[in-house]
Amino acid sequence: MSVRAEPIGVAMLGAAFMGRAHAHALRILGGPAGPGGPGDAAPPRLEVLVGRDAERAATAAAGLGFARSTTDWQAAIADPAVHLFDDVGPNDQHAEPIIAAARAGKHVLCEKPLGRTADEAHAMWTAAHEAGVVHATAFNHRWLAAVRHAHDLIAAGRIGAVRHVRVRYLQDWLADPDAPWSWRLSRERSGSGVIGDLGSHLVDLCRHLVGEIDEVSALTRTWTTERPGGTVDVDDSVDATLTFAGGATGTLSASRVSHGRVNSLTLEITGESGTILFDLERLNELRLIVAGEPSTEQGLRTILVTDPGHPFLRDWWPPGHTLGWDVGFVHELHHVLQAIRTGEPITPLGADFEDGYRAAEVCDALVRSAAGGRPVRPVYRAVGA
Ligand SMILES: NC(=O)c1ccc[n+]([C@@H]2O[C@H](COP(=O)([O-])OP(=O)(O)OC[C@H]3O[C@@H](n4cnc5c(N)ncnc54)[C@H](O)[C@@H]3O)[C@@H](O)[C@H]2O)c1
Repeated sequence: MSVRAEPIGVAMLGAAFMGRAHAHALRILGGPAGPGGPGDAAPPRLEVLVGRDAERAATAAAGLGFARSTTDWQAAIADPAVHLFDDVGPNDQHAEPIIAAARAGKHVLCEKPLGRTADEAHAMWTAAHEAGVVHATAFNHRWLAAVRHAHDLIAAGRIGAVRHVRVRYLQDWLADPDAPWSWRLSRERSGSGVIGDLGSHLVDLCRHLVGEIDEVSALTRTWTTERPGGTVDVDDSVDATLTFAGGATGTLSASRVSHGRVNSLTLEITGESGTILFDLERLNELRLIVAGEPSTEQGLRTILVTDPGHPFLRDWWPPGHTLGWDVGFVHELHHVLQAIRTGEPITPLGADFEDGYRAAEVCDALVRSAAGGRPVRPVYRAVGA
């Protein structure tokens, strides 16, 4: 893999929610604060924005800071100024452009879920692997300071061998039966419903923090099948049990119909000697009890993770000054650019396409389990198999 000294040219497909999040992060890199600050040898250069409509793409490119725009993703991939292709489009716009970009020798970053199905994700992983390019799946929660701290505590054995895992991601934007239809409610366009959308984040966090999932048993429901604008043929909610290769058991719940839960992601992980809780609504905190510290009869204690020594803090503000949700994207994008520059691997701290593929196998297993009313063991294929 080549080491680049010049700025890394970026093409991005999509300009809405995730487009804004990724462009915001890219524009911070090389700026006065954050990783890859002013001393950074090779900041990203925002070259081309790919959209569906020429006029809207041009407006979005100007607003997000891209030099130019196109409606032709093949032209963006062929552009010699582009080194990294960042796909933040809908799920049905991931596989074809990403595979083409990788085959053209461009490094690739793709929003989750990597593919609509495990087969699609596997083809993407295979293409990127065979092309020898850097490949990363945008599981951004890995890049939150509190999640990293939880990861480091668990990896250091501070809660012992993990026994119980409880993960939950709840939103409310489909709670109203009159909420309009969109691509996220189509199996053809999205792959699955809440399983691929929010469940894939949970699956990745389980794999990142605890280890491989070896069996799932799921119940899903589609609570509203007809919405203004279309028919819903994907799951609105999922409740599942999990078993992990390391012996832990767990539960996973995800819903887009949870009244009052706007964007609630919670993790609770208990080992033989401690427990760690994370709540996205308390972004810079963990609640925990860990080995090696005085036990408390008053339950878990709350810590602020923005203390000296946290690997993310040195790039930002003095200790105790909290970090926002958007900072996760800055770290994620910086990690990808560093991997391109230095040849260092995306894993284990970041998620590569193998992680995206393995999460997709678990998501497919959840879908099959719910459809068949039985436990399903995901089968993980080798690259190219
Ligand atoms: N990591 C996260 O936390 C997170 C959050 C939200 C969404 N996502 C993922 O990011 C992706 C995009 O989600 P979003 O919420 O930004 O979606 P969105 O529907 O708001 O935006 C999609 C964008 O892609 C563009 N687009 C659609 N078809 C296109 C085409 N054929 N060519 C070029 N551009 C096209 C649209 O114009 C729009 O700008 C999805 O895969 C989603 O699962 C991840």
